[in-house]
This record gives sequence, structure tokens and C-alpha cells, in this order.
Amino acid sequence: MSTQGNVRAVTTYRLSEMKQRGEKISMLTAYDYSMARILDEAGIDVILVGDSAANVMAGHETTVPITLDQMIYHARSVTRAVSRALIVVDLPFGTYQGNSKEALASAIRIMKETEADAVKMEGGEEILESVQRILSAGIPIMGHLGLTPQSIHKYGTYSVRAKEKAEADKLVRDAHLLEEAGCFGIVLEKIPAELGRRVASELHIPIIGIGAGPGVDGQVLVVHDMLGITNEFSPRFLRRYADLHGIMSDAFTRYIADVKSGDFPNEKEQY
Ligand code: KIV
Repeated sequence: MSTQGNVRAVTTYRLSEMKQRGEKISMLTAYDYSMARILDEAGIDVILVGDSAANVMAGHETTVPITLDQMIYHARSVTRAVSRALIVVDLPFGTYQGNSKEALASAIRIMKETEADAVKMEGGEEILESVQRILSAGIPIMGHLGLTPQSIHKYGTYSVRAKEKAEADKLVRDAHLLEEAGCFGIVLEKIPAELGRRVASELHIPIIGIGAGPGVDGQVLVVHDMLGITNEFSPRFLRRYADLHGIMSDAFTRYIADVKSGDFPNEKEQY
């Protein structure tokens, strides 16, 4: 066991050291015990209990519907499995945007009920008061700028963000604000590679990209996408490391055939 009490081997401090020495940070999502265990054993640095659970676990079109209770359920399953990786949990839509007291109450529930290490929040200046209040309670925050899926109804599209100068300038300003407030890292989603490189070089905290090019300090993907469990989602930034959709589909088809034919269970598979 590589934990000391509740402190896992990868800490926010270790991530900052990794940035300083130029070591890239690996991050993937997980929402359940079995997946988190395999990821931790493989040596992933950061596990994100993302609100993408709304999509890949629950089948919603957007991340908007997932609740705090549902995020806590997923996060508890993950923290039970992990001894090494830093665990970050998304604060879901509607639990931090309006009122900083409510935001703090949501973050405290995540920390107390799941034993995760940090929370992640989407947005910059608009959520700064909530960010400051949560940080002042000693809860580490990872920011999230660029494409922010919780605001999908505002933008109406998942296309590349911050291509225009005004939006890029705001993103850079927001990144500095989050760093000055005390966030330990920021996810940048689906922005031009050059902008990703600029933010990572201007800021001292680790910048983790998803579709933000190679010039950032680390990369994150949704685990179901990189394993090829989902096969209908193919953005340019996604590299598939397996075709689990094909492998699982083949296994299920063979199982069904074996049950139907009476081949399963055989003599050795019974008592
Ligand atoms: O919810 C999620 O999976 C995320 C990643 C896309 C960064 O926020």
C-alpha cells in the first residue's frame, strides 16, 4: 500500500514537481472500482471521476443532468480501488455556479463522503468567487477552460474553442486568474495547439490537455473512448488504444451461442 493514511502517492505537489522537471502527466477518467483498479495498477498519475459519467455510464446526451449524489457514488467506487493515483472529482453542473456558499457545501460533500483528493470546476472569472471560497477551505481545485461541456446549451456546439483572438485572450486571462487564486492545475479542452502551448509556458501550474496539442504538461482522455468501448465518437484528438467494442461484442455473441447450443457449461464447469 503506497498511501500514508489518506494521502495517496501522487499529490498536487508531486504534479507540480513533474511540471518543473518536464515529466508529462498522464490522466484518464474512471467511474467504477474495477476500471480504477486496473488504471492505478498500470501507473496512471491522475484519475478523473469526470461528469462524462453522464454520457458513458448513464447514456445522457450532455453532462448537464448528472447530480452530486451520482458523482459521489462514482467517486466512492473509485477511491476504494486506488492507492497511488491522485483522484479528482468533477463538481457537476448546478452545484457551484450560482452561489459560493453552495459551491463550498458541494465540494465539502465530495471531500468528506468520497475521500477524493481534489475537485474540478469549469469556468474562469465567472466562478472565481466559488473557486476562492473552496480553496480557502483547503480543498484543492483543478480548473477547466476551453470547451466546457457543462455550458453546451450556451454555445450549442462542441466545436474547437478560442480560435478567435478575443476568446483566446479571455482564456489566457482566466488561466492566470485561476493560477493566482491557487488552483493546482487546469484542464484545457479542444483549443488550438499553439494556445495550449502558450498557456502551459506562461503558467507555473500543470496544464493538462484534451485536444489542446502536445505543448501542454499532460494529457487526459475519457477511458471509454480510448479503449474503443464507445465507437460512435471520433474527434481528431482521440487516439484509440483498443477496440473493446469489437472484443466485447464478439465475447457476448459467443457466450449467447454457447448458452443456446448447450455447450456452456460443460463437464468441468459444474459441481
Ligand atoms: O468529464 C470529463 O471526462 C472531463 C474530461 C473530458 C476532461 O471533464
